Amino acid sequence: MASGERIFVQAIKRYCATHGIALDVRADGWLLAMRRGEQRLFAFGYDVGLNSAIAHRLANDKSATAEVLALEGVPCIPHRLFLNPKLGEKVVGVAWREGMLALLHDNPQGVVVKPNEGTSGRSVFRVTTETELDRAVGEAFSMSAGLVLSPYVVIEDEVRVVLLDDVPLVVYSKQRGSDWRHNLDAGAKPVLMQDGDLRTACAKLAIDAANAIGITFASIDLVHVDGVWRVLEINSGVMMETLAKLHPELVQTTYDAALNRVFGDKH
Ligand SMILES: Nc1ncnc2c1ncn2[C@@H]1O[C@H](COP(=O)(O)OP(=O)(O)O)[C@@H](O)[C@H]1O
Ligand SMILES: [Mg+2]
Repeated sequence: MASGERIFVQAIKRYCATHGIALDVRADGWLLAMRRGEQRLFAFGYDVGLNSAIAHRLANDKSATAEVLALEGVPCIPHRLFLNPKLGEKVVGVAWREGMLALLHDNPQGVVVKPNEGTSGRSVFRVTTETELDRAVGEAFSMSAGLVLSPYVVIEDEVRVVLLDDVPLVVYSKQRGSDWRHNLDAGAKPVLMQDGDLRTACAKLAIDAANAIGITFASIDLVHVDGVWRVLEINSGVMMETLAKLHPELVQTTYDAALNRVFGDKH
């Protein structure tokens, strides 16, 4: 964020102030160094440090997430990885473009091209022709070491679940604006989901997904396609900047719960 302090930083400051934790804020708030007695802990970006290194890496990688979910039988949107040809022929091979064209051919409704490591909806393109594919691929490769191709699906509903262990702390559906993408950064609005069968079903799928990659604290995006709920992506950093404008207390309690877990507190 170019101006203003992130909600994430404000929430951690508030937590530290009320729990006797000394806090150093560095690098414009991207690095937060916390100390309580012998305990030295860090938050970085949107990460409070609850996830293992491998869970974090799998979540950050759309292709790896989809592969692991498929292995574990958790319904998900497939994401096929293509490495940037700039990494060299030895690494990437020569047949990458043919592979992309075959996917485009098999999906007449189009494919979605996006950087393998997410960017809040930036450089996410739906393409239906070879020319559009080449342009989107050029754009995605200009900013990332790998991209993913997914079949374009008509999303009837998109839901985000913020999970801590097996507890769904936040569940909301994303009401999109004029754009086909549901990113809150692109103007979608979060609408909290009431208790009921739908919330329970979404929470269960999110828990299955989290268990499959072994992640502790995450936000998990689900999409409703042809009447079936599937996992779209898992984010290991929990970002709630837009949600906080509408539900500041819920965001603070969610980060409080995560930080209690980090500091080993029960309350
Ligand atoms: N295969 C797809 N079909 C239809 N819409 C998609 C597809 N993949 C992504 N989207 C839309 O684009 C948005 C951004 O994609 P996402 O995978 O979440 O990437 P990012 O990490 O950039 O947020 C999603 O929230 C969803 O609404
Ligand atoms: Mg996303």
